[in-house]
Amino acid sequence: MILILNGPNLNMLGKREPQVYGNTTLEDLEALCEDWAGDLGSSATCRQSNFEGQLLEWIQNASEEGFTGIVINPGALTHYSYALRDAISSQTLPVIEVHISNVDAREAFRHVSVTAPVCKGKISGLGVLGYKLALEYFLGGE
Ligand code: DQA
Repeated sequence: MILILNGPNLNMLGKREPQVYGNTTLEDLEALCEDWAGDLGSSATCRQSNFEGQLLEWIQNASEEGFTGIVINPGALTHYSYALRDAISSQTLPVIEVHISNVDAREAFRHVSVTAPVCKGKISGLGVLGYKLALEYFLGGE
């Protein structure tokens, strides 16, 4: 059972800069993630918030809620939220960071991720497929 978290502004997917983030809406993305996890014999619970504190609480409680891994696209919080970094490193579940766009090919401020060093890994620039690859890592077996 995997927790998928999307951070600030990702509720605007499909409407927001489609040349950068594509045409898939958050609703579409969440349905895809649920299907992909189902195909892998498990389930995904998808949540989105524009509020840092809400994301922290979901991460803090993920283990007690029974999740076995977290996939997170922290949006712009990636680049500066030490609180999010501490929440990730304070709990025991593996976390994979996903970015739809290639953050390393964009503005300099996006080249820094304060959260990636405390994650299992980071997938960037592969569009919504990044979420599928993260689910395969957690659920795919051999
Ligand atoms: C993003 C990249 C971030 O730099 C940006 O602030 C986002 C989305 C991505 O998915 O490509 O909100 O995380």
